[in-house]
This record gives sequence, C-alpha cells and structure tokens, in this order.
Amino acid sequence: MSDVAKQNAAAEALKLVEPGMVLGLGTGSTAAIFVRLLAEKVKAGLDVVGTPTSEATDRLARSLGVRIVDPGELSGIDLTIDGADEFDPQLNLIKGGGAALLREKIIADASARMVVIADAGKEVRQLGRFPLPVEVNPFAAELTRREVLAHLEYVGLGGIEASWRMATGEAMLRTDGGHLILDLKCNAIPDVEALGAVLDRIPGVVEHGLFIGMAERVIVGEEAGARVIVRPGD
Ligand code: 5RP
Repeated sequence: MSDVAKQNAAAEALKLVEPGMVLGLGTGSTAAIFVRLLAEKVKAGLDVVGTPTSEATDRLARSLGVRIVDPGELSGIDLTIDGADEFDPQLNLIKGGGAALLREKIIADASARMVVIADAGKEVRQLGRFPLPVEVNPFAAELTRREVLAHLEYVGLGGIEASWRMATGEAMLRTDGGHLILDLKCNAIPDVEALGAVLDRIPGVVEHGLFIGMAERVIVGEEAGARVIVRPGD
C-alpha cells in the first residue's frame, strides 16, 4: 500500500471522530498515519482521549500530544480505528501482522464501533493467504504448538505449516505481553468460525488473529481517495 493510499484511508477515518470521543488507537503503519493526523487535529483544539493497542502506539500518540488513558480506567470506548492484514466480504479479519493482536482484540471488543483502515491488497474472497498469527503463552509452547496442529485436522487444515515468529537474530519474537507468536500458513481458511472456536479451546493459546464480526466497516485506501465497505446487513 502506498503512503498516499494509507493517508487517504486514515483521513477518511478521521471524519468519524467527534469531540469528546474515547478512541481506540490501532497498531501498524496505517494506524500510525491515523494517529499522526489525529494529533494534528488535537493540536488544533479537538478534545479526544486515546487508548492504545500496543506500546508502540502508546509512545507515538504521547509523543505527538494525544491524551492517553489506560484502557483499564475506561468504562467504554466509542470508536477504534485499526489496520488489518486481510479482510473478507463479511468483514472478518486477520490481524496480528504487527504482533499486537491480543491488545487489539481487547480494545476492539470493548469498543462500540471498530473501523478498519486498509489497502485493496488486503481484500480477499477467503481469509488465509496471510499467515494467521496465534499468540501463545511461552510455558510449554512446543506442546501448545503440537496441540494446535492436531486440532487443525478437525477444521480441514491438516498438514499445514506453523512457525514461531522470530525477532532479529535467533531470538523468538515476544509480544508486548511477553507471549510468542505462532504463524499458521493456512493458505485458505474454509470455516473461520470453526477455526476460531477450535483455537479458543486450547489452553496455551492466549488469542488468535481472527477478528470475526468485529469490524463494522473497512475504509479501503486508494491512490485517488477512499472506498467504504460496510458490513453486510448493517
Ligand atoms: C498489528 C496489526 C496491523 O493492524 C496490521 O498488521 C496492518 O498493518 P499495516 O497497516 O502496517 O499494514 O494487526 O498487529
């Protein structure tokens, strides 16, 4: 996605922001552009409060003068603007390319509205081309990996590859919460609900990157502007 397209998606999302709102602030390069545009409005007098989905977004927003509140102190979030790695026609998402999926899901779930900003390359008929990130507790992580692979058989995904995400060098990547990320190379996910339900039942799985029925709309950034896709039935 070019920076112009990202900028256009973020600028369109900014139009949804109203004075007094509590905003969930997403993670990733597109969400970061949104935070920068929001900060300009804040400088010009817009009164909003943000709550971040990652340490990186927390630092960025604070450095630009956006007032940040710990999500635990909030009774609700009006609107969350976040990126995504893939979205399908039902606006189900794969998220977690930036390893922030747990906090992103906590914030999205607590939000009255979740709006995604993404480029057209992330629009797919069926989720799964982007490896599905699964956040795993480091305790007995290999055992959890084997459990995940065994359970995938039940949802038509037997024999797929599952690899630990690495940081730079030989170290495994750690999320903001100290967990590991297991990337599942599904290629195509035949039934997102079934896969989500199976992963939810494995104790060592902290969270997975399937966001099912959470996004109310996706704003697709393009070179010349932005296209809005509303969830079918809304
Ligand atoms: C982070 C995410 C991001 O929102 C997702 O990876 C999209 O990022 P970008 O806007 O940089 O393409 O889920 O965990």
